[in-house]
Amino acid sequence: MKKINVLIIGSGGREHALVKAVKKSPMLGRLVCSPANGGIAKDCEVANVKAEDIEGIVALAKEGNFDLVISGPEVPLSMGLADALRAEGIAVYGPNKNGAILEASKAFSKNFLKKYNIPTAAGENFTDFAKAKEFIENAPFDVVIKASGLAAGKGVIIPETKAEAIEAAREMLEDGVFGDSGKEIVVEEKMEGEESSIMLMVCGKDYVMLPPSQDHKRVGEGDTGLNTGGMGAYAPAAVATDAVLEDVRTNIIAPTLAGLQSEGIDYRGTLYVGIMITKNGAKVVEFNVRFGDPECQVLMPLIESDALELINDIANGNLDVSKVKIANKFTAIVVMCAEGYPDAYRKGDVITFTPEDDIPEDCWIIHAGTKLVDGNIVTAGGRVLGMVGSDATLQGALDKAYALCKTTSFKGGFYRRDIAHRELARLNK
Ligand code: AMP
Ligand code: GLY
Repeated sequence: MKKINVLIIGSGGREHALVKAVKKSPMLGRLVCSPANGGIAKDCEVANVKAEDIEGIVALAKEGNFDLVISGPEVPLSMGLADALRAEGIAVYGPNKNGAILEASKAFSKNFLKKYNIPTAAGENFTDFAKAKEFIENAPFDVVIKASGLAAGKGVIIPETKAEAIEAAREMLEDGVFGDSGKEIVVEEKMEGEESSIMLMVCGKDYVMLPPSQDHKRVGEGDTGLNTGGMGAYAPAAVATDAVLEDVRTNIIAPTLAGLQSEGIDYRGTLYVGIMITKNGAKVVEFNVRFGDPECQVLMPLIESDALELINDIANGNLDVSKVKIANKFTAIVVMCAEGYPDAYRKGDVITFTPEDDIPEDCWIIHAGTKLVDGNIVTAGGRVLGMVGSDATLQGALDKAYALCKTTSFKGGFYRRDIAHRELARLNK
């Protein structure tokens, strides 16, 4: 078997999960991750080039003769990382700039969804505050205000009243609270329902749908408090029933992939479709052009076939869906955070880990905001670690993840104790 040399770009929990998944493959030659984190540094070689340094990453990929580059985050993709690597003949998992715009411009996505009749919230794009205000005042529904550009997950405002909505629109368009990302906004209908994340691994018109997952965005138990990057997740999420998934395949995925083809976009990489399951069917909340974080951490362990082969086949335009095997089990992740997160948080605290021998084989400790300093792993981000458990039952997966949380500690560390609470309530009904 020809071994391939792989470069993974990024430094979070998502990238650590990708490293662990790729390392299981007999196809793997050399593996480097840049710029990585403390846990990744213990699992593979690391380089020190930032994800947004496109020239630097291309130079790194060429120097190391890498056969495949996997981009974890969206920012380099929206800056043209995949285009630049492909121009050098290097296979990439991740879309070109023309595909990354699905995440980089919510205004583009809104137009795309409308053009191809894909179910989504009714809404319009605005650059002019007076027009946005008039639309909000006259809209026959409650609205959500979104900065069109990338805003590190903070660009969506869900106002309680129309006055608050108008103020949010004004702050983005006139005060520039999100800089250039808020120069254009999307004003859309507030949808009601339960959310699920559908992660597709797309190769042009073909795709693999990974099991549906559900993330927990709020910092507090019972889904209260500030929004975060994600405090925990589990998969599969039963709220996305077979009927919902069939609806998603037919009414969302098919027209989306056909639309990308009509626009001349050869999409190769993850397409994350955030859906709201409303009483009128599944509707698109957002597109992202990369794996969710922490969703990736619960999905990688569910790929039973060779994940590297799958990613490499997609990057090279030869996806064979029949080779892909998904495990029939549950996974859950509980994210351990630094005191203060998602506001200013503690950093530099030494982490004491569960002894290696006490980590069950089907569990992973995923590093997100950590650094290796003088042989010690210390905290270096708001979301520090992700404890992943897998089991035949969801409760079993959660129990394993929480057991790891109890035996790992750092000063001020905290985590939500109610990951998957809605699902458990449904199961126990
Ligand atoms: P986004 O960055 O577009 O995923 O939005 C972040 C979060 O805001 C989503 O996960 C939803 O919880 C919420 N959201 C976004 N758009 C809507 C909408 N039209 N109606 C209700 N909630 C929304
Ligand atoms: N967990 C949500 C995201 O990655 O966007």
